[in-house]
Amino acid sequence: MKAGLRLFSFIFLIVGLSFLLFGCGSDSNAEQDGDGGKQKLVVGTDATYAPMEYMDSDGNIVGIDIDVVDAIAEAAGVEVEYKNIGWEPLFPAVENGEVDFAVSSITITEERKESFDFTDPYYFANQLILTKEDSDIKSYADLEGKEVSVQINTTGHVAIQDLLGKTSSDIVATETMPLAINEMLNGNADAAVGDNSTVNEYIKNNPDTELTTIEDDSFEKEYYGLMVKKGNTEILELLNEAIQKVKDSGELEEITGFAVE
Ligand code: ARG
Repeated sequence: MKAGLRLFSFIFLIVGLSFLLFGCGSDSNAEQDGDGGKQKLVVGTDATYAPMEYMDSDGNIVGIDIDVVDAIAEAAGVEVEYKNIGWEPLFPAVENGEVDFAVSSITITEERKESFDFTDPYYFANQLILTKEDSDIKSYADLEGKEVSVQINTTGHVAIQDLLGKTSSDIVATETMPLAINEMLNGNADAAVGDNSTVNEYIKNNPDTELTTIEDDSFEKEYYGLMVKKGNTEILELLNEAIQKVKDSGELEEITGFAVE
């Protein structure tokens, strides 16, 4: 009986220890329970940025970025599950492991690289000014002294802060890009600034609103990357290898319409 009890305690100890060691050691969502036993990665996004990431009428998260990540996942042999997190909460969600990585037309910047890791670029973009056709704004410099709406904490926001001042009350910073465009439409701002893909999509879908876009070389060229928790080399390498594969196969160019080196 005594020996039995000792054996029991020993097994108990081992089971307990392995729980400690393997049970709660990981902060990743990576699971082995995808279809066919594939690793499953949770991908966060802000699905308000058509045509890159948005909700279709059935409530599915779709867009060019989603097609890109689907292709990357296929090349990497993993499953992906998308979560619509929103723009600002996306950054802490990557940081605290709520998602394994983020896709959201995220521009790779030196400042963001201090807190996150980015994959190799898969897309390039630039900022566009969106304003009413009869506006006297013709360039980036013309925005000085004007009210400008942007999606908060985007590269467009930073570009306008550089011109108007970081805390300028002439900057109308909204939660989403469609809200920023609304601020311009209803006269709360003289112009909106955002990524070319989204601004052009808005014009395409609203041909009756009398709007115009302005490109300006003062805006830097931007490259999108997938954003990973700093130091998560496992996922970073998995994604980078897969990005290289879809670049080499021509699949990426087929989806986005242009090649990125
Ligand atoms: N490229 C810009 C940036 O990184 C804007 C991205 C906004 N994306 C979105 N899904 N709302 O700041």
